[in-house]
Amino acid sequence: MRVVVLFGSEMGAAEAAAECVADELAAAHDVAVYDMTDFDVDDLDTSDFHIVICSTYGDGELPTGAEPFFDALEARKPDLTGLTFAVFGLGDSVYGDTFNRGGEIAAELLAARGADQIGAHGRHDASSEIRVKDMARDWARGLPIPSAAALVP
Ligand SMILES: Cc1cc2nc3c(=O)[nH]c(=O)nc-3n(C[C@H](O)[C@H](O)[C@H](O)COP(=O)(O)O)c2cc1C
Repeated sequence: MRVVVLFGSEMGAAEAAAECVADELAAAHDVAVYDMTDFDVDDLDTSDFHIVICSTYGDGELPTGAEPFFDALEARKPDLTGLTFAVFGLGDSVYGDTFNRGGEIAAELLAARGADQIGAHGRHDASSEIRVKDMARDWARGLPIPSAAALVP
């Protein structure tokens, strides 16, 4: 099944993580990477597996790069029943209560349209010693990406 990696970023860390995830999955899957700024909500396809990689800005908000996508999602309210996705969020624990809210908001908005989140919700902490690219690669390795056959009724 095709894997669509969507990243929402301001300073580039989520984009770098997305490239690592795509690289990790490319041996076994057909992978495409898109900046959420350039991805049309109407192109969401239930036969694809989606990976959202999204940082956090402001006071626990989505990064600017992810806003057009989620604004369109809320405006058009597509029925995403049958769509599967996984989320890897980026944040910094120095922000306390709003730590990693960007990825969590992304997951909540997709689930509100009927999509199913699968796998562990990744939460990178920019204050940790762990490099975001290493964590994203390990996270991708553990994803239970459904086989295309599992989707055939
Ligand atoms: C102005 C600003 C506000 C931020 N606000 C938050 C926040 O509320 N919660 C959080 O977990 N991280 C917050 N962060 C940390 C970023 O999400 C983190 O550094 C992330 O790795 C940046 O990813 P990016 O380069 O893809 O944008 C903030 C960073 C900046 C510069």
